[in-house]
Amino acid sequence: MSDILLVDTHTHLNDAKFAAEGETAAAVERARAAGVTRMINMGDTMASSAKAVALAHAYDGLFAGVGIHPEEAFPMGEADDAKLAAWAADPKVVCLGEIGLDYYWNKEEENHALQRRIFIRQLALARDLDLPVCIHDRNAHGDTLAILQKEGRGNRGVIHCYSGSLEMAKEFVRMGWYLGVDGPLTFKNAAKLPEVVRWIPLDRLLVETDAPYMAPVPMRGRRNEPAYVRYVAEKVAEIRGISLEEVAAQTTKNAEMVYAIS
Ligand code: NI
Repeated sequence: MSDILLVDTHTHLNDAKFAAEGETAAAVERARAAGVTRMINMGDTMASSAKAVALAHAYDGLFAGVGIHPEEAFPMGEADDAKLAAWAADPKVVCLGEIGLDYYWNKEEENHALQRRIFIRQLALARDLDLPVCIHDRNAHGDTLAILQKEGRGNRGVIHCYSGSLEMAKEFVRMGWYLGVDGPLTFKNAAKLPEVVRWIPLDRLLVETDAPYMAPVPMRGRRNEPAYVRYVAEKVAEIRGISLEEVAAQTTKNAEMVYAIS
């Protein structure tokens, strides 16, 4: 067992890349050995949300987010809201996520308008359910901020895999949001992210993997998994000039706070 404890607050063991016989159990085992005793699997679709909930019940220390990812946007109706709300009543479901905007993959304005509608709809649902949200924002920083300032007033949660500017990070933190950082922090082309990590109050930061994607250095290019969140935490410690223990202790506390896990 590891000397430090970490929470991977954003992962996808519900992804098809972990579907082979025994893969999930093995990944959970390796995570625990690395000190990652708790992890939150996020939903992208109704099917993957259901899987996240099932995994949360199959393993100690696993929790679930449920929601519709912007790349999977479809015109949600009341039956979908009701399904998400029913899952949300489960104590192992800790947020609506991941939800948000992604203007990188699909460039159609019509699709972006649909994404904004279902993002706003799920923000409203999260407020009704008194749950935090986990937000995906890729190449849509301006609209994400604008929606959180207007329709998202009264919501709380995490801007996951933060990729915006320092200036925008300051605005999100001022509004009470937490920021999650992932593998890209360890990349040579990490751009503005180290600057954000150097600045951010430590009680606003979370470490994540977003596995199976974006494995951190030195695992870059391989399938990512929750155990590797330690490399992200080590990079945070290096950038801030503090110990890994301090990063682990504070980000764990933050995870417990924002997602109300214990
Ligand atoms: Ni994700």
